[in-house]
Amino acid sequence: MTADDHDPAIVGTPPPPPASAPPAALRAPLALRWPDERATAAFAARLAAQPALRDAFLTLDGPLGAGKTTLVRHLLRALGVQGRIKSPTYAVVEPHESPDAPGGPLAIWHFDFYRFDDPREWEDAGFRDLFAAPGLKIAEWPDKAAAVLPPADLAIRIAPEAADAESGNGADAGASCDPDDAGPAPARRVLLAAGTPRGRVLADALRAFADAPLPETAPEPAPETDPRGPAA
Ligand SMILES: Nc1ncnc2c1ncn2[C@@H]1O[C@H](COP(=O)(O)OP(=O)(O)OP(=O)(O)O)[C@@H](O)[C@H]1O
Ligand SMILES: [Mg+2]
Repeated sequence: MTADDHDPAIVGTPPPPPASAPPAALRAPLALRWPDERATAAFAARLAAQPALRDAFLTLDGPLGAGKTTLVRHLLRALGVQGRIKSPTYAVVEPHESPDAPGGPLAIWHFDFYRFDDPREWEDAGFRDLFAAPGLKIAEWPDKAAAVLPPADLAIRIAPEAADAESGNGADAGASCDPDDAGPAPARRVLLAAGTPRGRVLADALRAFADAPLPETAPEPAPETDPRGPAA
């Protein structure tokens, strides 16, 4: 081989630096599977234990009956919220207080934007002020208020596995989970995507638990029914 065999542009060119880990913003979403509601509750308990959850904004996507409100109820219980936990289906937002949350008293706002169709309500109802205040904000159906919502720290997408398998289209299938169907409830497929540095802290902490076994004791199930009625 002579020097002419080499591409002059390559000879003497230092090799490119080794590929390093992708920047955090480009990390793939964390994929989880919740076989039953006990797994949802276990995830909620782990999320509640994260200091970065305080002041975070979480969005919950997924078809009717996917388990968004169920996750919120388990999360609120794990944060120490007492009493009845109403779904905000009609009120759009339900406020909660947890005096005993890890790290001190915590204000929590649980939004459901399913019926939100007038962006003026964002100002009129004081939602802008709520989002500017300290505390945890959680929103179901964020797409219905996408024009006014800030970016989520952590976007959680939940879909029943049956819809996943039927369409091959994962959580985008848009299918609902019919509670009248015979047989056991389908497992849930879950994707967690961080949208901010705070969200990446949360996602990284939850990633560490992704393969951990579930706790021995099944937590109390969330007993409330959704005023929206049975999922379509
Ligand atoms: N692994 C699971 N995780 C969460 N919920 C589950 C699971 N398995 C079964 N379920 C049941 O599925 C139902 C989910 O209802 P939920 O109201 O939480 O759905 P949702 O996504 O909030 O619906 P909507 O879009 O109407 O607000 C509950 O009855 C819950 O008990
Ligand atoms: Mg709900």
